[in-house]
Amino acid sequence: MFRTVEWKNSSVVMIDQRILPGKEVYRTYRDYKTVAGAIKDMVVRGAPAIGVAAAMGVALGSLKIKAKDYAAFKKEFDKVATLLASTRPTAVNLFWGIERMRRVAEENKTLPIEKLKARLVAEAKEIHREDIEINRSIGRHGGRLIKNNSTILTHCNAGALATAGYGTALGVIRGAIEAGKKVKVFADETRPFLQGARLTAWELKKDKIDVTLITDNMAGYIMKKGLIDAVVVGADRIASNGDVANKIGTYSVALLAKAHGIPFYVAAPLSTIDLNIKHGDQIPIEERNEKEVTHLAGKRVAPEGVSVRNPAFDVTPNRLVAGIITEAGVAKAPYVRSIKALFRKG
Ligand code: MRU
Repeated sequence: MFRTVEWKNSSVVMIDQRILPGKEVYRTYRDYKTVAGAIKDMVVRGAPAIGVAAAMGVALGSLKIKAKDYAAFKKEFDKVATLLASTRPTAVNLFWGIERMRRVAEENKTLPIEKLKARLVAEAKEIHREDIEINRSIGRHGGRLIKNNSTILTHCNAGALATAGYGTALGVIRGAIEAGKKVKVFADETRPFLQGARLTAWELKKDKIDVTLITDNMAGYIMKKGLIDAVVVGADRIASNGDVANKIGTYSVALLAKAHGIPFYVAAPLSTIDLNIKHGDQIPIEERNEKEVTHLAGKRVAPEGVSVRNPAFDVTPNRLVAGIITEAGVAKAPYVRSIKALFRKG
């Protein structure tokens, strides 16, 4: 099995997701600036995976700080955290991972600097370990919602590649299969970055899970034919009212699911829920380079000079969401209440 992101000998090793499935290349990062670059360029992507990578980036950056006392250490630490936090704006797990590292630094400020650094490395490794456990738990809760002999539509990649391992939406599918159910998957291609075609299809095939690839505009046709029993997607940030930011195109899939009476589920760890945000309109949406739209595999497919928009995420309103599957259980409408209850449990 592949490793998405890993701490190895004081460096961060990541599979380069930009060139999958053609090439399986692992890259080694020895300083926090190149980790920040890797997050920005989407060598690593997917909300939980970038949270883990950012935490490891903070650990790497901390190891190189030459300060002798905490005040001087903290000054450098803040520079590391600020750069890593500037890489991508939508997935809240990035900020969550950095914040958790900042808290550990504060709580251990009386330790000798070398011990504090070791503590930070241990925390980053712990975030990685926990993420796999959390996904397995999401898989167990979500697996129960999936009926035997179901076909699930998913969008983007919310799998092992988007997390430390196992996945959220794909974790639900894996959980259902591990519980003995027969499950087939339809994967949306997910233009423009093709996470569905390149990554979801790749990791499901590797796992011998039955996967059929469609382009994004085929979802309505496939649903109307009665071929989809449920939709399961991941999330980049969930507002406290249950509005869900996820990969661009998710909102259209949710509307289609509603029109066809198909349940639309969101699978995400509690760290993806941003309690500081009341509703989806407040979630910052990343706009990426227009070349992702005008070019396909490096080749121009649109005329020079055409106006382009490239929002990387959209927001699905809570009324379209049948359930939010987390490690602490499944939240259902009304979400303000059910989400709060999950945090009390989680
Ligand atoms: O731009 P990406 O590839 O980082 O976007 C990823 C998604 O939108 C995923 O669906 C989301 O992060 C959930 S991953 C478990």
